[in-house]
Amino acid sequence: MKTVTVSAPGKVILAGEHAVVYGYSAIVAAIDKRMKVTVKESKKVQEYSGLVRFALELMGEDKRGWDIKIDSQIPIGSGLGSSAALATALVWAIKPAAKIEEKDKLIKEIEDFAHGKSSGVDQTIVREGGFLRFRQGKFKKITLPISRAILIDSGRPAETTGEMVGLVARGNRERQMKQIGEIVNKWTVDKISLNEKLLEQIGVVGGKAKSMIRAVEAMGGQAKICGAGGVRTGSGMILAYAQNEDKLRQLIKDKNWPHMEVKFGGKGARYEG
Ligand code: MEV
Repeated sequence: MKTVTVSAPGKVILAGEHAVVYGYSAIVAAIDKRMKVTVKESKKVQEYSGLVRFALELMGEDKRGWDIKIDSQIPIGSGLGSSAALATALVWAIKPAAKIEEKDKLIKEIEDFAHGKSSGVDQTIVREGGFLRFRQGKFKKITLPISRAILIDSGRPAETTGEMVGLVARGNRERQMKQIGEIVNKWTVDKISLNEKLLEQIGVVGGKAKSMIRAVEAMGGQAKICGAGGVRTGSGMILAYAQNEDKLRQLIKDKNWPHMEVKFGGKGARYEG
């Protein structure tokens, strides 16, 4: 029986998360951290849970046996697009002959399951790679002056992306959404702090992440969460930027913060081997 392997990149939203769900633009970059999914038909029907189970049922493949191996460099549930990478790699691996539009539709349904309501930005960057400006299902490839970033880990959120999107939906946040949209339209790295303030106003940043971000700002840098966020515990990965990178690295070292470095502009999803 044939084995199919697909790899898909993670992503960092540089500006515009949450507002993108309401039709505003977002700027997003694929990263060099990838998820590899290998599937093989098997005689035994296995029980899967969560997103994998939902995806198999959606594709009408849950009564068939599948060995699914997931090998990921993307931290799960930390704002780096792990659900979109998994959804994409699974659909591409299980339905290799399907047209791209059909694959995209399935991935959108899986992303809606994971996000409550998804804008489509994550699955689009995972498919395309590089850097994109995305709005309402449409995208433009762009180039940006930053090629890598330091991500500080504020801890895995207790909430799912769907819960955070739901939390925002219950607030009356149209003013902040519009302001986030305006930031994206005139984005430069100097707008990171302002974007973060608005994310704090819409209530998606927890206390731990806020205090880490204040410390980065106090040393002259800028930082923001880069996904759906979280309030009860961690808020996922924080994108940190400083002109004086040595000073930022020293702060991270002094505070003993877990962190990772990523390169932007990673390649989109692809079949391996
Ligand atoms: C999650 O990576 C980004 C959100 O804007 C949700 C979405 O766009 O689907 C929070």
